[in-house]
Amino acid sequence: MDQTGQKRENWGSRFGFIMAAAGSAVGLGNIWRFPYLTGMNGGSAFILIYLFFVFVICLSVMIAEFTVGRNSGKAAVGAYKSKSRNWTFAGVIGVLSGFLIMGFYPVVGGWALAYVVKSFTGLLAAPEAIGDSFGAFIGNPVEPLIWMALFLAMNIFIVSRGVAKGIETAGKILMPMLFVILLLIAARGLTLEGASKGVEFLFKPDFSVVTGQTFLAALGQAFFSLSLGMGCMITYGSYLNKSENLAQNAAIVTVMDTSAALLAGLAMFPAMFAFGFEPAAGPGLVFVVVPSIFAQMGALGPILSAFFFVALVVAALTSSVSLLEVVVAYLMDERSWTRKKAVYISSAIMVAMCIMASLSLGVMSGVTFLGVGAFDFFDILTDKIFLAIGGLLLAVFTGWFVDKEVLRQELTNGGTVSFALFEVWHGLIKYVIPVVIAVIAVTGIMSISQKGLMIFGLAVIAVLALVSKKL
Ligand code: PFF
Repeated sequence: MDQTGQKRENWGSRFGFIMAAAGSAVGLGNIWRFPYLTGMNGGSAFILIYLFFVFVICLSVMIAEFTVGRNSGKAAVGAYKSKSRNWTFAGVIGVLSGFLIMGFYPVVGGWALAYVVKSFTGLLAAPEAIGDSFGAFIGNPVEPLIWMALFLAMNIFIVSRGVAKGIETAGKILMPMLFVILLLIAARGLTLEGASKGVEFLFKPDFSVVTGQTFLAALGQAFFSLSLGMGCMITYGSYLNKSENLAQNAAIVTVMDTSAALLAGLAMFPAMFAFGFEPAAGPGLVFVVVPSIFAQMGALGPILSAFFFVALVVAALTSSVSLLEVVVAYLMDERSWTRKKAVYISSAIMVAMCIMASLSLGVMSGVTFLGVGAFDFFDILTDKIFLAIGGLLLAVFTGWFVDKEVLRQELTNGGTVSFALFEVWHGLIKYVIPVVIAVIAVTGIMSISQKGLMIFGLAVIAVLALVSKKL
């Protein structure tokens, strides 16, 4: 029971939980960001470093988030607060990150939605104009906003229906669909002549291109992709049944997320190489290079392209649902708001942020704050500062401030399931992970070229640390 006397919501089934958590993890991060980061950071060497971070650091962090969430039965802020009010700020940083990511994520979700329709309405007919038309589209003051609103409406609908009926049902239908579509498109790409060069680019490591930046990009991407560092998996873990095996579920979600990213790479790079496109195309990769590839595939092109963008919408939707849920769960747990009130009020703020983010790529491109437009402001603050600090705080909290026996009991369900690697996991969370994240996060934060923004982000954290005790 919570303060309002309502029973806390729970996942309906194990499969449902896994689909929802994987739905959160698999998102724009996998299909939009992972391929372009891979392309820009030299391909396979980046992938190897990324995989190392995912399985050595992030899997342990996910186990910690699930454990802290289920043990406290509370979403991000409540979970920290139940130990000590001094820690409230760590949860608040998470909720704030949720807000900030929701300030640009639905904008890209809206683009994907638009491209489902555009696949059939002549986009592919003029391949040479695809790049310009993307630039014109995202800079248009009205069109992307309409698509963004549509995307957010779906999001709001799902989250307002609640954990089991909304989020879980969406995950159970959409996630399998996403994997099938990606497999289909990868199969088509891999059977093109010249595709093997793309496979080589993905899997044959070339360490000469690795720099300090490669590590930063890989760690940031690993956290973002697995939805870690902002209490999302704490929140999802808090709805989890006491009989579930936490470590095993975390491993399944991590493997699914990684497979989706690699599959997205396989869906894109082989075809890209076969048709002679540049891999390092930046954020426009998915919206420019991918339609250009499909434009070369004749009658099948528009259908495959539409399928691809449906996959992107699906991935984005199940993730933005989880981002909204982090904020909503906080308002329900800590402010005793009803679900509907929490959903409507927080999304109203998100709509305003998304409008600014979308316009910052066009008519408002001249309006900057601390050197960047709204879209980059939300993205850089979360990607480079808040998620890494959030992950660091979570590791320190779990390793040093939660009793080891409590963790052991929670992870083994009171001794009824075995977790042979408990000691290894605990050692990693307590000693290794905080140091690794700290080194990489500090280097990453120092490398932000907009110094004003960097100081602003750190100041926000400091202020939150001072005032959050009262929340
Ligand atoms: N993991 C999502 C993606 O890869 O697109 C993004 C995300 C969702 C980040 C939820 C953080 C989060 F809490």
